[in-house]
Amino acid sequence: MTATMASVRTAVGQAHAKVIIVGEHAAVFGYPVLAAPLPALTVRTEAWPAEGPITLDCPLYAGPLAEAPGVFDGIKALVEAALAKLSRPARDIELKVLSDVPIGRGLGSSAALAASLVQAIYRSCGAPLDRETLLRLVGVAESFAHGAASGVDAAAVVAEGMVSFRRGLAAVPLRPARPLHFVIADSGLPSETRGAVEGVRRRLVRDAEDTRTRLETLGRLAEGAQAAATQGDTGRLGQSMNDAQCELEALGVSLPALDRLVLAARNAGALGAKLTGGGRGGCVLALARDPGAAEHLARAMRAQGARATWLASFGGEEAA
Ligand code: MEV
Repeated sequence: MTATMASVRTAVGQAHAKVIIVGEHAAVFGYPVLAAPLPALTVRTEAWPAEGPITLDCPLYAGPLAEAPGVFDGIKALVEAALAKLSRPARDIELKVLSDVPIGRGLGSSAALAASLVQAIYRSCGAPLDRETLLRLVGVAESFAHGAASGVDAAAVVAEGMVSFRRGLAAVPLRPARPLHFVIADSGLPSETRGAVEGVRRRLVRDAEDTRTRLETLGRLAEGAQAAATQGDTGRLGQSMNDAQCELEALGVSLPALDRLVLAARNAGALGAKLTGGGRGGCVLALARDPGAAEHLARAMRAQGARATWLASFGGEEAA
């Protein structure tokens, strides 16, 4: 492709990472969840017409989409579904993905990739894309990545600010009454969302009463967290996060490396800290009193082994 072709004919789609503040896993069973976008970490897809089989160029693979390894099965299904919906043949398009969302860390990399692909494909065809169609198509890929995805990741990676979400319903924007400052710390261990979701399902069969109670508690904590955020009650929000971590540990989706980062954040003065996303690896989310405290928490978690940290603030000014 020449530079001129690219500038004239390239269509772009973009989505960002996300964090679950309270309610992961319970979300799969229809309980409420509080989530937020991380606009600092984006996935951008460029698409342009080119005769021949569909090609994909992304951080983990470059070549014909049909020959991509099994982890791309969801993406293959998504691209075919999007082109079919547009009444286009499954060919004649090149897709190039640039991403700074860490892959497999519970930050929504698969949903963000899927959303950016759908947007780029629709734009390259000059077709309008409504939110419902976008989310439905992202769901095609997410069902491969997560098994029974609730849809919260798809909603959060295209959200403009914090959202409260419930499976099967549209995400509702939530505006915090005062700024909320979060730190995200990467444990460096891959998060197995699919395995973790399946593990909770197995636990539900094995130990139905206890698991159901814990999922209900997580749902209540998410509701409490939503109310605390809208009222600007950061103490209660932090406590909801801490309580949620207890439930997630009991459900078996935390790991010693995550517990260590949670403890480091709390010892350094976090209002609350917990794993975020599917767990069994991935990231920890901590709530700080102010931006200076957030920097301090980030340093404390790095000292305890976090490979990378990011800051995100919501409310007042929107997510930064
Ligand atoms: C993953 O970010 C959140 C989970 O609850 C899965 C889902 O809701 O699809 C673990």
